[in-house]
Amino acid sequence: MSVKDVPSLSDLLEEALEVKQNPFAWKSLGKNKSICLLFLNPSLRTRLSSQRAAQNLGLDSVVLDVNSGGWKLEFADGVVMNGDSAEHIKEAAAVIGAYFDMVAIRAFASLKNREEDYSEKILSAFIKYCGVPVINMESSTGHPLQAFADLITITENKIVEKPKVVLTWAPHPNALPQAVANSFAEWMLKADVELAITHPEGYELSSEFSGGLAPEFDQRKAFENADFIYAKNWSSYSEYGKVLSIDSDWMVTSEKMKLTNNAKFMHCLPVRRNQIVEDEVIDSANSIVIEEAANRIVSMQTVLKMILEDMG
Ligand code: CP
Repeated sequence: MSVKDVPSLSDLLEEALEVKQNPFAWKSLGKNKSICLLFLNPSLRTRLSSQRAAQNLGLDSVVLDVNSGGWKLEFADGVVMNGDSAEHIKEAAAVIGAYFDMVAIRAFASLKNREEDYSEKILSAFIKYCGVPVINMESSTGHPLQAFADLITITENKIVEKPKVVLTWAPHPNALPQAVANSFAEWMLKADVELAITHPEGYELSSEFSGGLAPEFDQRKAFENADFIYAKNWSSYSEYGKVLSIDSDWMVTSEKMKLTNNAKFMHCLPVRRNQIVEDEVIDSANSIVIEEAANRIVSMQTVLKMILEDMG
């Protein structure tokens, strides 16, 4: 569900690098086991990398796009279901749990109700009712498999023992959840890196994830001596779900990258070119976004492998 489920980050990283070196070494581990990949929101990387990870372990995977292929779900208790929801989460989750050995779920934040989103209403309901292990494929508040892949990528690319890693907000026309930024901050705070977070005022992340790290509002200052620049947009947490700025001066440009220690450029993708980042940066030799996306197979496979090993 999050980095809080990881007793030792260094052990987990070691495991991931082993998986990456020999992806087919555990081909029989998932024999006669199955996973349901449930998507309540769109995905390219998570959907495909999860299937590849399962396949590498001999684990059968089935994808369900809940909104287009399932019934509309009801989450509230004790309601008269005379609206447009046809199935209650109690039955839906329990049935999926009866069909599969584990469930992975993508369910974004609504960005309408902070309390509801930060209580992880959908993920918590699946955990409560499905009776099998649940894996977070990006929830309202976190995207741990992305942050884990990011950490693997940073570990593989770092040239100093403790690199400076900068999470920078960048402009986007739409309101996006805080999940990726939350998890990135949370994981980096536990890793052997120096984390800096830069964004316009009003974009402070929840201290539950940022650890109360004071943000640098001067992006250029934050970029100085950075070894990794991690760009992401997110909407406001304090003025929940609002877009407070679309200032194009926050875009990652080649001119700003010159302030860094020849930093690598990272983004979880999908990315809006020439909004978040200039073509010149993402197309440069310092861009490691494809390598980062490829490591999504490794992060998922490592987690699946550990769950399968626990199942015995
Ligand atoms: N980074 C990421 O999760 O990509 P998708 O939304 O395409 O799965």
